[in-house]
Formats: sequence, structure tokens, C-alpha cells
Amino acid sequence: MKANMFYAGVIAVFLSLAACSGTVHQIKPTDVQKNKPAAQTSPAVKTVSSLSHKGLYTVANPDSTLVLVNKYFKLPDNYVPKQLVSVNVPFITGEKSELTEMRPVAAKALEIMFAAAKKDGVQLAGVSAYRSYKSQTTLFNTYVREDGEKKALTYSARPGTSEHETGLAVDVSGINGQYAATPAFATTAEAAWLAAHAAEYGFIIRYPKGKESVTGYEYEAWHLRYVGPAAAKEITEKGLALEEYLGKVSVTH
Ligand code: DAL
Ligand code: ZN
Repeated sequence: MKANMFYAGVIAVFLSLAACSGTVHQIKPTDVQKNKPAAQTSPAVKTVSSLSHKGLYTVANPDSTLVLVNKYFKLPDNYVPKQLVSVNVPFITGEKSELTEMRPVAAKALEIMFAAAKKDGVQLAGVSAYRSYKSQTTLFNTYVREDGEKKALTYSARPGTSEHETGLAVDVSGINGQYAATPAFATTAEAAWLAAHAAEYGFIIRYPKGKESVTGYEYEAWHLRYVGPAAAKEITEKGLALEEYLGKVSVTH
């Protein structure tokens, strides 16, 4: 018996040492850093002035609520937000799909904002929130067929460069869907409410009137982008486009 206990003890010590040595060889963050290509450990910084850029850069911070996605700063290839959740607000389509999803932080803010609007007698509905690269491709190609590429690019983003692919953007209309995503939406009480209150909930009117030459897009009173309340407040109060607020952007290539 004693001998058996001795051997059991030896085996136990051996197993615990083996377990310890396992942890020693786990990959540490520093090991991963060493193996990263230089371009990813030290992203370059580009100044965002307006539409004067010549290149198409890939943003280094796609998961940031302050990521800049426009004609000159694209999302990494195959980018999909880490988490998307169904937004619990009415959508004009009446059915759940990827188009009714957003990143959790933006979904929560949208739900709170819609409830506040309702208290003010303004009933809002979602039109289109998250779009995958694939669905942005389908949409953009449809517009190109209808209007030609030059015109389409004034109101629709090439796949990889749409904010809808970040899960932080949503097109909003009134509850009846009238004027959804059309210039006439700007004349509605719903648009006025959004212009006055969206920032309180962390959203900006991303393509403002008068900033077409900075954003590269026509005025869209319906396209809201979540940036967080502090940034939204400053951007809205100062009448800036996101490009003007950010100034500089880290890129990987
Ligand atoms: N309408 C905006 C620019 C988009 O397609 O993302
Ligand atoms: Zn939009």
C-alpha cells in the first residue's frame, strides 16, 4: 500500500509539473507582437483634409466607434464586426435580417433614442442598419446599373467603404416609411427631431448639408452614425463633418 501511495505521489508531482510547463509555453502577447509584420505594429498616420486624397487606405482601427470609413479610408478586407445584435426598434421592412442588426453599443443607443423620440410624439423606424460587404455590393451594383457609376458614387459607397459595414450606421425614417432614404425626408418632423437630438444619444448626421465636398456624399438627413455622446456633441455643436473632427487616421496600408 505504502509503495502504491508513493508511486501515486510521484505521478501526481509529475502531472502537476507537466501542467506547469504547459503554461510556460503558452503564447504570450509579446510573442505574437514579435511575429507581426511591421506595418501592423506601427500603423502610418494619414491626415484627413477633404477629398484631396489620392489613395485608398485601410484603417487600422476598424473596431473603434471613431473609425473613419469613406471614399479614401476603407475597412480591412473581409472585415466583419466582432458582435452584431438585433436592434429592438421597428424597421420598415417588418422583418429581422442582418439589416436590422448593429453593434451592441449602437443598438442600445438607438433603442434609447427611439424611445425618447416617441415620448416627444415622434415615431421613428429603421430602414437599413448593418450591411455585409456582400449586401453593399448588391446595393451599389444596382445603383450603378440604374444611374451609372459616377452618379451612384454621390450617394452610395463602394463595398468596403460603407459605414453600414461597421455596424455603427443606420438609415432612419418616420414610422410609415414615407420619404425613407430620399431627399424629401429632410423636410419632415422626424428629420428635425433627429437633427436636434441625435447627438444626445451618440449619433451624428454623417453627411450634413453643405459638407458634400468634405464627405464626398450628398446630404443624407437619414443616415446616422454612432460615434459616442462626447464626440457627437462636439461634432454637432461645431457643425463639423467627421472628417474635420478626426483630422488624422491610422492606416495599415
Ligand atoms: N449612402 C451611404 C454613403 C452608403 O452607401 O454607405
Ligand atoms: Zn446610410
